[in-house]
Amino acid sequence: MGPPPVTAVIPAAGSGSRMASAVPKQFMELNGHPLLDWTLAAISHAAEITSIILVAPPDDVARMTEKYVGNPRWPKVSRVAAGGATRANSVYNGVRAAGTEWILAHDAARPFVTPTLVRRTIEAALRHGAATAALPVYDTLKMRDGDFLGQPLDRAAALLIQTPQVFRAADIITAHERLKNEGKEWTDETSLLQQAGIKVAWVPGEIANMKITMPDDFRLAQVIAERSPFVKGPARI
Ligand code: C5P
Repeated sequence: MGPPPVTAVIPAAGSGSRMASAVPKQFMELNGHPLLDWTLAAISHAAEITSIILVAPPDDVARMTEKYVGNPRWPKVSRVAAGGATRANSVYNGVRAAGTEWILAHDAARPFVTPTLVRRTIEAALRHGAATAALPVYDTLKMRDGDFLGQPLDRAAALLIQTPQVFRAADIITAHERLKNEGKEWTDETSLLQQAGIKVAWVPGEIANMKITMPDDFRLAQVIAERSPFVKGPARI
């Protein structure tokens, strides 16, 4: 049996308020290409990804559909789903719109993901049931006590969680609906799955797979973009 089809769900429905920019974050340009196009190009070029669902702010769905769906430049982008009030709701809406057993969720705001990292995360999920990219912590780690330092934390026991995150659609849908009813909240799908009692494996992420949140992140991303190849041309399906 060949590898199973995997739908990529790309949440891009945040307001980007921490960026404080005139243009929404996903359309800010990195070395001549919108941030979102960097993310979509990298995900498109991963052979394991068979289709892509973009999750956009509800007011942008029509415009984004026109730009990305049915466009020969983006043959894997199959539809644009409307986002929700939180990232968790946006991913849930994307997962509901997908038609495959396996889903890869990846933040639109991480434009330097690589096809290698996509493959590594998918392979771990197929083996263990769910997986995420994550980075060990090398800095000294402390609790925060307002303007002062609190207790030290054991950095060897800590991980920084990135995306891609790969899981079964049914696990997310069931867990989301159950935990929502219990009034629970979560910041990413690994936290949702863990609260539902599902084990999540981790694979080494990449430092360049940074999330662009603050203006400083964007300046660093510009430096990386100037030295990175932008994958041109449509991906093969
Ligand atoms: O807010 P945060 O930095 O965690 O957002 C991570 C990703 O989730 C971004 O790509 C953002 O566009 C997306 N997001 C979303 N819907 C929301 C909030 C964030 O799709 N309501």
